[in-house]
Amino acid sequence: MKVFVAGATGALGRQLVPQLVAQGHEVVGMTRSESKQDLVRSLGARPVVADALDPDAVAQAVASAEPEVIAHQLTALSGKMSIRDARHPDRSSAAKMTNRLRTEATDNLLDAGRAVGTRRFVAQSFGAFRFARTGGPVQTEADPLDPDPRQTGLEAILYLEHAVTTIEWGEGLVLRYGGFYGPGTGISLAPDAVMAGPIRKRRFPIVGDGGGIWTFIHVEDAAAATAIAVERGRPGIYNVVDDQPAPVREWLPVLASVLGAKPPRRIPRWLGRLLAGEMATLMMTEARGASNEKAKRELGWKPRYASWRQGFAQGLG
Ligand SMILES: NC(=O)c1ccc[n+]([C@@H]2O[C@H](COP(=O)([O-])OP(=O)(O)OC[C@H]3O[C@@H](n4cnc5c(N)ncnc54)[C@H](OP(=O)(O)O)[C@@H]3O)[C@@H](O)[C@H]2O)c1
Repeated sequence: MKVFVAGATGALGRQLVPQLVAQGHEVVGMTRSESKQDLVRSLGARPVVADALDPDAVAQAVASAEPEVIAHQLTALSGKMSIRDARHPDRSSAAKMTNRLRTEATDNLLDAGRAVGTRRFVAQSFGAFRFARTGGPVQTEADPLDPDPRQTGLEAILYLEHAVTTIEWGEGLVLRYGGFYGPGTGISLAPDAVMAGPIRKRRFPIVGDGGGIWTFIHVEDAAAATAIAVERGRPGIYNVVDDQPAPVREWLPVLASVLGAKPPRRIPRWLGRLLAGEMATLMMTEARGASNEKAKRELGWKPRYASWRQGFAQGLG
């Protein structure tokens, strides 16, 4: 099939494009920068340059590809995150841009796809540790997300999920990835990895009882699920996460040890609130995990790294 990947050069896109090519698809990869065209070519795709926020440019790029499927993998989340950003996540420029990519750019891609007869649309969303802090430790796609207005970008996420899964001219699938780790992500062996850095410096403590449950996914496994969703699966939302949601107090010491760091410090909740703000503290203490049962059952997908334990040990490079 002809597949158009918006975000071909991102952490996820760089894994997805070669997998699609290996499956025999003809891929066109979108980037904003002339200078990243060679990267797109090296992944096996034909590059096309367009700003996702420019509706005419997107329409032209998509029309030049006439894709049967569009994969929307646009975010602006890969930049550095300061403590100030953690305290006021909605004020960070990365969050503001990601909100625009999840709303305006989604509309631009949907309009462009409809205009050229695209019949399937697969989009990136984010659900891990965003569930309402009620009910059991591990939740499904049927459970509500946390309606707390302090949740970063919730409105934009809900906008994207609704817009994509309700298209009538094709099939819309939304993949809610877990926290990424692996090459090109914030948790990797690269010296500039955004989350690994503070963990190495013991600046990523366990807050309170560390009971918040996080759900991870290796970026290669996330791409494999996406490559399947390009081909099959019913419209709807799918959690793309590993088999083992786990509390911070369990996974963080393991990750610190893999990164060669000393065990994480422990700080009380009140200090967590003071340093990193209320929402970050809630993520560390009360977040709920996500179940991958639906993606496994309906997409026939199975993560290669079924557990972050194995993935952190073998897949960070
Ligand atoms: N995905 C999540 O839910 C999530 C959540 C928290 C943290 N993180 C971390 O953030 C990183 C995210 O990886 P990612 O793959 O989602 O993002 P990424 O690596 O930042 O890639 C973003 C992609 O979007 C494209 N893009 C952004 N703005 C664009 C625009 N206006 N027009 C056209 N293209 C545009 C970029 O293309 P060009 O630059 O080539 O133009 C790039 O291909 C990882 O390190 C992950 O650990 C991710």
